[in-house]
Amino acid sequence: MSRIHVSHTDIANWAVNKVNLPKDKAAEYREQAKRLREKVQAYISEHPDFTLRKMLLSGSLAKGTALRSLNDIDIACYISGADAPQDIPKLLDYLAERLRKAFPNFSPEQVKPQTYSVTVSFKGSGLDVDIVPVLYYEDPDWYGKLVSQQDGSFLETCIPRHLEFIRKRKSRNEVHFAQVIRLLKYWVRNQKIENESFKFKSFMVELILSKLSDDGLDFSDYPEAMQHFYTYIAKSNLKEMIVFGDYYSVLNATGHNEPVKIIDPVNSNNNASKLYTIQQAQIITDAALEAGDAIDAALSATTKEKTIYYWRKVFGSSFNI
Ligand SMILES: Nc1ncnc2c1ncn2[C@@H]1O[C@H](COP(=O)(O)OP(=O)(O)OP(=O)(O)O)[C@@H](O)[C@H]1O
Ligand SMILES: [Mg+2]
Repeated sequence: MSRIHVSHTDIANWAVNKVNLPKDKAAEYREQAKRLREKVQAYISEHPDFTLRKMLLSGSLAKGTALRSLNDIDIACYISGADAPQDIPKLLDYLAERLRKAFPNFSPEQVKPQTYSVTVSFKGSGLDVDIVPVLYYEDPDWYGKLVSQQDGSFLETCIPRHLEFIRKRKSRNEVHFAQVIRLLKYWVRNQKIENESFKFKSFMVELILSKLSDDGLDFSDYPEAMQHFYTYIAKSNLKEMIVFGDYYSVLNATGHNEPVKIIDPVNSNNNASKLYTIQQAQIITDAALEAGDAIDAALSATTKEKTIYYWRKVFGSSFNI
């Protein structure tokens, strides 16, 4: 493949400057999350029967896969399930009321229930923190019922194990695994801007790349790794079940009859892509085919101008080197 005009290194450098959340910002936001967690922890030690049990950074900031465009900090809050309301609006009010107790120096308006989470907003600097409830029933591995941010249903899952699962793939492929995730999330972001019916959850992108990693994909050449991702989608049409044996036998993942089956690596009964229709899978497949063709064209283009033109089909008009 010709790499004269836009090389792997060009993409890598562009990613550091334009795609990735800068390291100092990531550290600052993690610190912000840590302060909230410590406040809840301190409140728990003074009030041992408090029904909020722990806060845990979750989402892309925890996984090290955040984009520069990150607009909130995700935190999971474990709530004793035995006493908490199961009705979502009531649960969110319940959570907000208790967070206000744990954060007495925040005004009540700074702690606001949203549709499926509670946001804590900071005066002045700092991002909003999005606190997602997890109903907790004393599981020693911190399994619990996470409120889905897509439809408010309860998902039986385990965030610490999700972090461990991703960490394992990251350490097998230092730098590159996380970088390819971010590049593809950036592609997703660009697709969403161009087509409002395009949907592709970050968690699904990460799980597909985890499968490719487990199958031996190397990731150290970014155009090639992206191309593998697009080819996998184009070939499978997202109809092939993706399942992992880290925490259960893959034979347990039966009975899923949704069109897209990307199974939660920590719970064989939870299909992380269950809300995706055949139409949505087709839109993703079409976009993947187009992106794959654009990368092929970019790699064989004869001038720098043409090469950039094709890369812009993948990453949008702001792509430049
Ligand atoms: N369907 C699901 N089943 C189980 N857990 C889920 C599901 N969807 C999301 N999660 C949990 O929530 C976390 C965050 O979701 P997701 O990966 O989509 O967002 P993100 O990593 O924060 O990315 P973004 O940059 O798009 O915000 C996941 O890492 C996972 O722990
Ligand atoms: Mg997020």
